[in-house]
Amino acid sequence: MTKQDRVFIFDTTLRDGEQSPGATMSHAEKLEIANLLDEMGVDIIEAGFPIASDGDFAAVKGIAEQAKTAVICGLARANLQDIDRCWEAIQNAKLPRIHTFIGTSPLHRAIPNLTMDEMADRIHETVTHARNLCDNVQWSPMDATRTEDDYLCRVVEIAIKAGATTINIPDTVGYTAPRESAALISMLLDRVPGADEIIFATHCHNDLGMATANSLAAVEAGARQIECTINGLGERAGNTALEEVVMALKVRNDIMPYQTGVDSTKLMNISRRVAAVSGFAVQFNKAIVGKNAFAHESGIHQDGMLKNAETFEIMRPEDVGLSATNIVMGKHSGRAALRSKLSDLGYDLGDNQLKDVFVRFKELADQKKEVYDEDLIALMQTGDAEA
Ligand code: KIV
Ligand code: ZN
Repeated sequence: MTKQDRVFIFDTTLRDGEQSPGATMSHAEKLEIANLLDEMGVDIIEAGFPIASDGDFAAVKGIAEQAKTAVICGLARANLQDIDRCWEAIQNAKLPRIHTFIGTSPLHRAIPNLTMDEMADRIHETVTHARNLCDNVQWSPMDATRTEDDYLCRVVEIAIKAGATTINIPDTVGYTAPRESAALISMLLDRVPGADEIIFATHCHNDLGMATANSLAAVEAGARQIECTINGLGERAGNTALEEVVMALKVRNDIMPYQTGVDSTKLMNISRRVAAVSGFAVQFNKAIVGKNAFAHESGIHQDGMLKNAETFEIMRPEDVGLSATNIVMGKHSGRAALRSKLSDLGYDLGDNQLKDVFVRFKELADQKKEVYDEDLIALMQTGDAEA
């Protein structure tokens, strides 16, 4: 693997994810999730926003002190006080990173009421300050995808010259589309002096449901860090889902030849833990980690799956940490699946017996959303009693 093939995974479940209204996690829960992320091979963990509260500070500090291999990053606005507080929280990490940001689009520039020149000076001052504290500095122009190209090039160049080692390009409001996301990274790589010496990151929100596609398009154009969260947790419609980009790069490595360091077999467990501690349930049909992502009910699909799993599955359930595909028995199920399910339950039926049981199974299935193993056992026992 060359440097060109490696994509770093930056997880921000504990910072951007936790900013999702109602997703607050306790200190112990944050330490637990950070530990799972570290063990899973995530490269950078954004542990929180230390100046936001004493609780956030303590969580970032605790995570920095426990981390084994991941870089631990804290967020800071573009002012010296935020950056100092961030450094205080992360300085004991084996690999600390300061992430500082400011909104650069016309709408965001209006909030602190800074002129373009004043903002450029602020960026120079704050990135220089962060770099004097820490060798690893990430800088983000918030709302980059709605910032004028010329101004974006100008401020990215300033941040690089001031010592930023990673430049993150946020699509803060989930506004961009894949072709544009790629073009923005290409434009920065072409026009900004020094751009080939730093890592470009992509940070996408999912307001139009394009976060994963936008992140992958940015990678194809040269970004080498994807910012994401477990289950796509995040403000509004959420952030790029970590499990989606990791599995997309694994399953479609033929057309996207990039590697991550993430052990995908740990995805299901961490997804369940994040859902439990954040209180945000995972939708049933969520890609990769949804309850139905590896479940089949229709007769045609079940029959195909029993003959060759590749007919209706592009990933093996084991690759995401599930033990097996879930063949769900319901009114769409066919004879082949019923025979196989009953055989698993210890009932090996001849053709005539199966015919009779299948009729009674369909009558039952018409009344229920799902026919469970216990229902099938009861069905077999009723049949015995009637015989
Ligand atoms: O979406 C965003 O712009 C952010 C920044 C703080 C990086 O989360
Ligand atoms: Zn964000």
